[in-house]
Amino acid sequence: MKQTFYVTTPIYYVNDVPHIGHAYTTVAADALARYKRLSGYDCFFLTGTDEHGQKVEKAAEAAGQTPLALADQVVERYKELWKILHISADDFIRTTEQRHYQAVAALYQKVWDKGDIYLGDYEDWYCTPCETFWTQTQLANGNRCPECGRPTEKLKEKSYFFRMSKYQDALLRHLEETPDFIQPPGRYNEIVSFVKGGLRDLSISRTTFKWGIPVPNDPAHVIYVWFDALTNYITAIGFPGDQKRFERYWPANCHIIGKDILRFHAVYWPTFLMSAGIPLPRKVFAHGWWTVEGQKMSKSLHNVVDPYQLVQEYGVDPIRYFLLREVPFGADGDFSRAAMVNRINSDLANDLGNLFSRALSMVVKYRAGLIPTPSDLQPVDRGLEEVSKKILPQLAKQLDDLAFNKALTSIWELVNAGNKYIDETAPWALAKAEKDQPRLGTVLYQALEALRIIALLIAAFMPTTAEKMWSQLGMEGNLWEQNIGENGKWGGLKPGSKVAKPLPLFPRIEA
Ligand code: ME8
Ligand code: MG
Repeated sequence: MKQTFYVTTPIYYVNDVPHIGHAYTTVAADALARYKRLSGYDCFFLTGTDEHGQKVEKAAEAAGQTPLALADQVVERYKELWKILHISADDFIRTTEQRHYQAVAALYQKVWDKGDIYLGDYEDWYCTPCETFWTQTQLANGNRCPECGRPTEKLKEKSYFFRMSKYQDALLRHLEETPDFIQPPGRYNEIVSFVKGGLRDLSISRTTFKWGIPVPNDPAHVIYVWFDALTNYITAIGFPGDQKRFERYWPANCHIIGKDILRFHAVYWPTFLMSAGIPLPRKVFAHGWWTVEGQKMSKSLHNVVDPYQLVQEYGVDPIRYFLLREVPFGADGDFSRAAMVNRINSDLANDLGNLFSRALSMVVKYRAGLIPTPSDLQPVDRGLEEVSKKILPQLAKQLDDLAFNKALTSIWELVNAGNKYIDETAPWALAKAEKDQPRLGTVLYQALEALRIIALLIAAFMPTTAEKMWSQLGMEGNLWEQNIGENGKWGGLKPGSKVAKPLPLFPRIEA
């Protein structure tokens, strides 16, 4: 049986349309999922939408719609974007689905049966956009939310509470025993000190609005949107009805999220699960925050980057590449057109694009498009092979660490080695003399073989480019049925098969 790998994105709110930040997380999860599938895993990749809560209710009100009608519209925007970005999600969950109501009710019931839910009075400062209550001492500048800076309001309501305080020690122990539970390490430390600072019981129901999943046995309350939303990760794999499928994929290998929602995933979610007697996810990875041309992205600044438009202008794969190459996953980054154009032109058009078209056009020109048979290898030929053999195991480790930028840097070692190889072996000079024909065959074979392996290695990041390379190299068999470990070994290219005339992979972008 194949080993399983379960990766998730956050489920995005439907009070707003998708932007580059949402695309970032989802592209990262997609690269990981594709890489794992190409490494032989039975992978399940989940994304979806978070449709309940006051924020969505208010947005719908403002738009003169019902919350569900708003959700129905925005969900289409997300689904369309994921199609455009070639997101290979195995499922798309909406929290308004019947299966999810059942899962949330079942999880709530387990926590209830454990004696971890009680009815109490809740009064505190509430930030509606962040869906978070704050104590007086946590507020910033008067009554403002310490997270987003917007005004909070004093709110008092009857509420069901979850005994989160009861799990403080258990969570701390888990964090200490499993230091890679929260990544990167800076985020781990943040969570450890937060938990050490003390966990308060958590209000998990609301009566001040209606748009949510009713509390079992007390429908005057709706379940707090984060209790509801986090449950999506188990709904989609069959909780509570399909025990077999649930056990196949749970615990999740990795929840990929932005740093803005770390506490919900690193504190609330694990304590809910502990209470319910469900194992914890193996890893929560919080990536950093994108600014745009040095500024915070916001509607009021009119600088929200629309991924549809970017794809139209630059193409899908260049966007996917830029997002994952430009900034170490986990660090904050700045999105600028200049940086993107620079990356596309230098790494994609110059380095990879050139290597591909140079090598392929020489085979077309000198060998009528037929892949030659290599003969005796010289040190320079072995050197190229060595680079390829070295990066394969590195890549596996880098992807386990979600170090996408390092993985791409490693792959580019092979791209650069390929270009250097062609410069050094100068096939155009070999082509001139009859006696150099066997040598020319070896050189062309080696260059094309490097490109075959590059196609396999970039597939997770730039699926369309990889497919184009694969078919232009005359490779038989579906790229997505390859196994990086097996087919990434040197020598897979078949002499005698025919390559296509190269089509440019990446047009240069004029600044
Ligand atoms: O928080 N830079 O949904 P959301 C990087 N529904 N990533 C960004 C970003 C930016 N500027 N802006 C958004 C929610 N993101 C909840 C989640 S999960 C059970 C519930 C990405 O629509 C990043 O992944 O506000 C962030 O965590 C997520 O979008 C927040 O999306
Ligand atoms: Mg948000």
